[in-house]
Amino acid sequence: MPCQSNDELNILVKEAKKYTKDGKVADYIPALGRANPHDLSIAIHYPDGQCISAGDIERKITLQSISKVISLALVLMDKGPGYVFERVGMEPTGDPFNSIAKLETLSPAKPLNPMINAGALVVTHMIEGKNVEERFQRLLSFIREMANDSTIDYSEEVAQSEYKTSFLNRSLSYFLKQHHVIKEDVEELIDLYTKQCAIEMNSLELARIGMIFAMDGADPQSGKQIIPVHIARICKTFMVTCGMYNASGEFAIKIGIPAKSGVSGGIMGAVPGKFGIGIFGPALDKKGNSIAGIKLLELLSETYKLSMF
Ligand code: DON
Repeated sequence: MPCQSNDELNILVKEAKKYTKDGKVADYIPALGRANPHDLSIAIHYPDGQCISAGDIERKITLQSISKVISLALVLMDKGPGYVFERVGMEPTGDPFNSIAKLETLSPAKPLNPMINAGALVVTHMIEGKNVEERFQRLLSFIREMANDSTIDYSEEVAQSEYKTSFLNRSLSYFLKQHHVIKEDVEELIDLYTKQCAIEMNSLELARIGMIFAMDGADPQSGKQIIPVHIARICKTFMVTCGMYNASGEFAIKIGIPAKSGVSGGIMGAVPGKFGIGIFGPALDKKGNSIAGIKLLELLSETYKLSMF
């Protein structure tokens, strides 16, 4: 079903766009540095398949940290919550997403949650399969099913660009390997993780994945329960407590929607029982979240009373 451009959303996008000038595109992954900081788009996907949008929602974005909530769902399905939460915690950190600081203060080096890079690397480490290719294909199939698009793939250019510059993620991984939390070859893990982060799709597909989480893991169109209810709930809870990193508290107060951001400028939102949201606005604030994307969600939440609190 084509996505309808919506007048009310266009007004909110126009208002939120004013904030793009205060943000900066991520350039620590060189391939992301070429995005246009003034872009802003939104798609809303409803359970009945209807979709409304504003801005250029066909533009493809890489998932980056948004992928962390999806890999978590897959690993929880593979291994079960008991196994997963022995290796990664459930608490917000109050630190930036790539911080190494708390790892050394924790015994036994268990990352505080699966949304920060240290925790996400442990989650990716747990994806089952006999080699990197098979593990990646399993994640990709899962994502294709949720987005209902079998052509979704990853950007080799973005994956390579991050692979070549992932010094901090390698440091986190070697620290975790030293403490036996990660057991595989670090280069293989970084290969898989950078491919995972480079999976690309448009805002409409992102909104559809948000809708699956909003519907507690069910795909209302196919009738299939893609993610078990208890696992979809765990993922949504992490989106509330850690989805915006050290901005999650303010985000919960001002917006009150489970959401996950990525340094590409994407935000996936899941309004429980109602709809999924896919936003793309590559100019980021100092905490690595889309600056205009957050403003847009704030306007949307205020206008339509979407806060779950
Ligand atoms: O590991 C990284 O640094 C990136 N691939 C993902 C980080 C990210 O998206 C943080 N989000 N706001």
